[in-house]
Amino acid sequence: AATSARVFANMAALHFEVLARSKLARASRLTLPHHVVQTPMFMPVGTQGVIKGIANDQLEELGCQIILANTYHLALRPGADLLEQMGGLHKFMNWPRALLTDSGGFQMVSLLHLADITEEGVTFQSPVDGTPMLLTPEESIQIQNKIGADIIMALDDVVKTTTTGPRVEEAMHRTLRWIDRCISAHSRPTEQNLFGIVQGGLDPKLRDQCVKGLVERNLPGYAIGGLSGGEDKDSFWRIVAQCAAGLPEDKPRYVMGVGFPLDIVVCSALGADMYDCVYPTRTGRFGSALVPEGVLKLTNANMENDNRPLDESCSCMVCKQYTRSYLHTIVTKEAMGSQLVSYHNIAYMMKLSKDMHTSILEGRFPQFVQEFLQKQFPNRD
Ligand code: GUN
Ligand code: ZN
Repeated sequence: AATSARVFANMAALHFEVLARSKLARASRLTLPHHVVQTPMFMPVGTQGVIKGIANDQLEELGCQIILANTYHLALRPGADLLEQMGGLHKFMNWPRALLTDSGGFQMVSLLHLADITEEGVTFQSPVDGTPMLLTPEESIQIQNKIGADIIMALDDVVKTTTTGPRVEEAMHRTLRWIDRCISAHSRPTEQNLFGIVQGGLDPKLRDQCVKGLVERNLPGYAIGGLSGGEDKDSFWRIVAQCAAGLPEDKPRYVMGVGFPLDIVVCSALGADMYDCVYPTRTGRFGSALVPEGVLKLTNANMENDNRPLDESCSCMVCKQYTRSYLHTIVTKEAMGSQLVSYHNIAYMMKLSKDMHTSILEGRFPQFVQEFLQKQFPNRD
């Protein structure tokens, strides 16, 4: 079974081509069944198959190439069988470009305090009626096969980065045992790409073992998981650097749950290619706009008389049409206010991704990083 599982994993429904490098950073073209994605790339999060406050045609006009949805939420509503009947999530939500689904374990553990992880899978109480339910690696993959995303994620055993001791090691070994169950359960390897997820907390030895174990399975791509959960930046970047260095050159590398523009720039410099986070849309709903200088808090009183656009260097629809003063007035009062700020924030993330890609292609990524840091931290040398 292990052998046939590995032959299966060998199949890929993607083509990954590194177009240019700048030290460890890569600009690449990732050809997926539904779309071609240029990396580095940020993926907006549409947990339920909708990016909060942004319509699909707006995402397309912003140059968004791939979005993320969550297996756990979609399995609860509208349910995997209904999605399959509707022809998969692409058709259901009318999104023609690429999709990625996360496996569900992380969402359950982070959302439900009552989730319990055993060798069999993740046990949780149904949010509908409280009855105990079990999500196994096999079920997660079966559901993701029905949803039909271009990239599907293995069910992993995630512990908080602040966890120490034997639980971290157990979770890493379990993640490796579960990857084989995921590979065996995957029924559409020529249409969907199963990515493995590196775990191992902040322990370099465990991370190394997990990287090696996953690379042996010859998967179409790899994610670095278990980060961005309250660890210090130094530990976070060190683990990303280590994992990226151990992963194959010719496969995409995805840092899960990241994040802040600064982290994305640093991780890209360390050789990572893909990112996802609710941050740009969530912070937008709370009235914060992402700008080259950092974060613009629209709720601040000094925005009241400011008739400049959110970001003078942004050419998005919101920056062309609205002032900070106007957005300050409506942002937490009107649905449209938070939608407009979210729209700009996604535009910002898309421009950041594109600027990294083109600066690597044009051999000026170091200058890009320097200018990015200069704007974010103007008082440092
Ligand atoms: N999202 C953010 N971090 C993780 C992780 O470690 N695993 C999974 N499955 N999803 C994530
Ligand atoms: Zn804008």
